[in-house]
Amino acid sequence: MKAVITDYQYESIETERSIIEGAGFTLKDYQAKETKDLIPAVEDAQAVITQYADINAEVISHMKQARMIIKYGIGVNNIDCEAAAKKGIYVCNVPDYGVEEVSDHAVAMILALGKKLPILTEAFRNGDWGYGSVVPLYRLSECTVGLVGFGRIPQMAARKLKGFGMRILAYDPYASEQTAKEAGVVLTDMEQIIKESDFLSVHCPLTKDTRHIIGREEFRKMKSTAFVINTARGGIIDEAALIEALKEKEIAGAGIDVFEQEPAGPDNELLHLPNVIATPHSAWYSEVAITTLQRKVAEEVVNVLQGNRPFHCVNGL
Ligand code: NAI
Repeated sequence: MKAVITDYQYESIETERSIIEGAGFTLKDYQAKETKDLIPAVEDAQAVITQYADINAEVISHMKQARMIIKYGIGVNNIDCEAAAKKGIYVCNVPDYGVEEVSDHAVAMILALGKKLPILTEAFRNGDWGYGSVVPLYRLSECTVGLVGFGRIPQMAARKLKGFGMRILAYDPYASEQTAKEAGVVLTDMEQIIKESDFLSVHCPLTKDTRHIIGREEFRKMKSTAFVINTARGGIIDEAALIEALKEKEIAGAGIDVFEQEPAGPDNELLHLPNVIATPHSAWYSEVAITTLQRKVAEEVVNVLQGNRPFHCVNGL
């Protein structure tokens, strides 16, 4: 049986190769991103491993033997999960490889923005000695963080933020009161989160329901002193509306790891606005996270090709 990797950005796939071939299967790797190149790559594969390639309904319709599609990561928004489910193909992810890293990244952005470190550094570089460039600055323990989505990553972020004494609200239509209570977090609606947050941090998946859930209207309702952080997916926040809100000073700043168009180029306006911290979809990365991710993807492939149910299936099969 054969597994294929449609695309990857790792230096080496030796871990995957040794686990998958060690179990008696074959592995072929591509750097295919477009439908026309993906179709011949996946046609006769039993397992399809993918990172950023668009695994749309057309590509899936050409899968003649696939049992599974597995994402190098958590967010499966580049895979048409429904089309796969209709063909009985499992869509799998690796939910637990980078929870610490992404929650650290969101918290680091909250702290750096809250202390206005990018502005202080730039002002100091230009000869401004003192705190004048960052007036007003608020005590973190008097601030409210609003989490949009309350899955694994924001739950861990909440525990870390509690250490700074911050009040934490969360909006997640599927989260349990019990989980929120144990984390010291108040579950509420989007309206309250938008209005009361000093830091609005986005952690839901990108789906039809969440596309642009934060846009022009929401920015207008936010505090002008508030910051927006997105380590989830570009497209959840309307990026054009965010740029406008930052320019119009409807909000105070942003921390953005994910973009509507990826890879984002140096011409992206967010990179050139003051008090924006922009990182290149790297929140997940650490040495431990990357090796864990590659190993767990390969182990799941072997698990399913050996005839077992997946450890982590996300399309309801
Ligand atoms: P998770 O799967 O544990 O939780 C997702 C949560 O979102 C669930 O609690 C679900 O109920 C909630 N949700 C679903 N629809 C919602 C809606 N309409 N409004 C609000 N909440 C909604 O996911 P986890 O591990 O917390 O990851 C969150 C996101 O982070 C992922 O979807 C992924 O796209 C992104 N991510 C980004 C990385 C990066 O490097 N920047 C790396 C890993 C994940």
